[in-house]
Amino acid sequence: MGFYFSSNAIEELKSQVNIVDVVSRAVSLKRAGANFKGCCPFHNEKTPSFVVSEQKQIFTCFGCGAKGDLIGFVQKYYNLDFNDAVAKLGEEYGLNLEKIQSGPDKQKYYDINKMAASFWYNSFTKEKNMGYQYMKERGISDAILKTFGIGYADESWDSLYQYLLSKKVDPKDMVELGLVKKKDSRYYDKFRNRVMFPIINPSGKVIGFGGRAIGDDTPKYLNSDESLIFLKKNNLYGLNLSKNQIKDNIILVEGYMDVIGLYQGGIKNVAASLGTALTQNQAKLIKRYTSDVVLSYDADSAGRNAALRGIEVLTAENIKTKVLHVTDGKDPDEFIKKKGKDAFLKLVDNAVPQIEYRLNSVKGNLNLSKDTDKIEYIKRCAKVLNTLSPVEADIYVKKLASVLKVSESAIKMELMGKSIIDTPQVKQQKDENKEEISPIEKNILKILFTNEDFLPKILDNRKMMESRFSNKILDLALENKVSLKNVQDMLDPEESILLNKILDEVKIGGNEEKVFDESVSRWRLKELTKEEKEILTLLSMADEKENQANMKELTLKLEEIQREKNKLSRG
Ligand code: CTP
Ligand code: MN
Repeated sequence: MGFYFSSNAIEELKSQVNIVDVVSRAVSLKRAGANFKGCCPFHNEKTPSFVVSEQKQIFTCFGCGAKGDLIGFVQKYYNLDFNDAVAKLGEEYGLNLEKIQSGPDKQKYYDINKMAASFWYNSFTKEKNMGYQYMKERGISDAILKTFGIGYADESWDSLYQYLLSKKVDPKDMVELGLVKKKDSRYYDKFRNRVMFPIINPSGKVIGFGGRAIGDDTPKYLNSDESLIFLKKNNLYGLNLSKNQIKDNIILVEGYMDVIGLYQGGIKNVAASLGTALTQNQAKLIKRYTSDVVLSYDADSAGRNAALRGIEVLTAENIKTKVLHVTDGKDPDEFIKKKGKDAFLKLVDNAVPQIEYRLNSVKGNLNLSKDTDKIEYIKRCAKVLNTLSPVEADIYVKKLASVLKVSESAIKMELMGKSIIDTPQVKQQKDENKEEISPIEKNILKILFTNEDFLPKILDNRKMMESRFSNKILDLALENKVSLKNVQDMLDPEESILLNKILDEVKIGGNEEKVFDESVSRWRLKELTKEEKEILTLLSMADEKENQANMKELTLKLEEIQREKNKLSRG
């Protein structure tokens, strides 16, 4: 029968048991003022940053951020769920804690699954059968078949049903667990002529099954129905075995056969998410055992996408994630069979950190020797880097800058969403949108239409003419070498109206020369102010130690700009 502890029980436990006492059994603590200090058991450290407050009955690590109360500590340190942690403490301190019975009887279901597992295991091992033959053909040893409790569901329609019935199992429960189906008041076995993989949770309970077709039958795999005790999203295949084999990391693979293949090949820190996208709960489950994951999904595009999604889910739990794709064969199982353990370990050693994996994946089909593609790539990278902490981002900005041979500041600007380099697409869009005609442009147009001789001078300062409208006029004037009267005729009607309006509006009183010079100065001032702002931004972001030369150059440029600005505004 399931149970949980009452809130009274939790209160009692907390009032009777001192966290300092409990932590001291695991960590050597020294008094430090009102608190106790020691080396954190949840990360590697030499100087103590793990603090226990006796007064508040909590612990905190200033190094890794681990924190919690008495029960939290026991959960984390001994890898237990809440109930088990409370039970452990209750037992150790001789407390009789009040339990409340809860919910439906999970144990009953576990027991039924266990009966089914041993029934299929017997069929697999005791008689000649196609399942055993199939697994032998796939090169799995007897020892490993036993370790994983592999079984065989025979071809008859009701052998499991009859067996469970003889064990007094209620058919309703068989159906509930998805072992047996019911049609028109007749019961029949769901799994027939399949190799059976029991799925066992970390506490050793059989929670469900996967059944593989023998040969090319479809579906290739049939799984237990989701039930009270089997929620795919909360479990990982093989974790019951691998949880004790984890030294640093765990290898996550896609399928049953990958787990079994790697395990037999000597890679025992492995588990599978069973062909579905990794879930947040699975990530939390992993976190109980390690914070270091190597994703080893199939090398196809589905596997690559699954890896990208997996990265997201794992990183959200602060799990350090790397990715590898096998280089020979479609999945880890095929690879290790062909190449062996050491070759696989080499792949693990060379697994790509998640950030680099994401940066690689956004590369797509871009050709980085083309400038426009390079710029697009930097933009995509900026999106990835924006999800990182500033320190991490900084490291990758440096790497990217050196690989792509662009300045770090340019990438940093992208990160801040302040593009200093526009892709041609963006630039074109900006130009198209720029229908606004500045007062400077209006003056120049007036001057041009007052005195055609200004055309060469205007073309020398063409950058001032920013709108599409002004540029169209200049192009017409230039290309056709026609008089400006004719240019006006060649405009669209709306454009012609607009031009007339501008020419009417702007008064220059016969001072073309003076107004022209003023306009050029004003425009130049505007440009200098823009440049000044950009340099100031760059300077504020540069690293004083590392960018010394760069900063000196920028400072000189800044001074020059400011001098010129002064001159212009005085003149
Ligand atoms: N899967 C499933 N149902 C299917 C196909 C796949 O549940 N019809 C799940 C299984 O958990 C399977 C995993 O997705 O293990 C990965 O699928 P796949 O790569 O096709 O299978 P393998 O584990 O590689 O099995 P095998 O080597 O026998 O092909
Ligand atoms: Mn596979």
